[in-house]
Amino acid sequence: MSESGFFPAATGRVLVFDSGIGGVTVAQEITAIGPKLIVDYAADTGFFPYGDKSDDALRGRLPVVARALVHVARPDVFVIACNTASTLALAEVRAVLDIPVVGTVPAIKPAAETSQTGHIGLLATPGTIRRDYTQRLIEEFAADTEIVKLGSVELVRLAEAFAAGEEVSRDAVAAAQAPLFEGPDGAKIDTVVLACTHFPLLREMLADTAPHPVRYIDSGEAIARQTLRVLEDRGAATGPKAAYITSEPADEPGTMHVLNRFGYRRPVPVSTRRKGTTSPEVA
Ligand code: DGL
Repeated sequence: MSESGFFPAATGRVLVFDSGIGGVTVAQEITAIGPKLIVDYAADTGFFPYGDKSDDALRGRLPVVARALVHVARPDVFVIACNTASTLALAEVRAVLDIPVVGTVPAIKPAAETSQTGHIGLLATPGTIRRDYTQRLIEEFAADTEIVKLGSVELVRLAEAFAAGEEVSRDAVAAAQAPLFEGPDGAKIDTVVLACTHFPLLREMLADTAPHPVRYIDSGEAIARQTLRVLEDRGAATGPKAAYITSEPADEPGTMHVLNRFGYRRPVPVSTRRKGTTSPEVA
């Protein structure tokens, strides 16, 4: 590893996973520091969105979908580019895979360290907001910081629509983040943690529609560095990068638009239904 955290020589196959297309923001960060890697992408479109699902439903789903995807894609490392999933079921996913698994941690620590005012916003899905894991991060790294939390399913929907090339109104984005700034100390917030991998897709619009200048920070670069660290040198992977989804049809125009934009071709549908008790059935 170089001092800067740039690993241009790293090789291997990475599978970046999210409920939808938010994880492409992480895939981009990984490609930026590991240009020789093959960075495949998988979206659990058949169970999207995760943010409003019950903990039990997600705990049941995640190990099953992770195993089915890894069975098909054969990566060297599995990256859960989803705060909602990582803050709940990282251990459960690790338990069923025999490759390194990298999770996503909301960037609460760097936000608390760099805020000048000591007031930060936490923008995430409702699931991530209510997690014990998130509360523990706050206690450990931001005990002296005032944190306003906002869970939004609407922003996830807007990010998917925006990335799919649909018209998304500034007013809708402004209204979705407005509650962060409406409290008595709202004007003191100088840093907002984008604790959902979908939200960096809307970063410019969020910045444009905030009531005052705010720094938005996310975990993308840190996840990329960790991925390269655990990957070490796995030997050169070959072939074009691939995308996988868990719903039909594989050529749904919105998903295709985003995937094409980020350099992926038609995604391969993967089924999470299992034949017998062991191997996943591939659609
Ligand atoms: N991108 C996911 C995250 O980082 C969540 C989106 C969803 O609600 O499915 O939390």
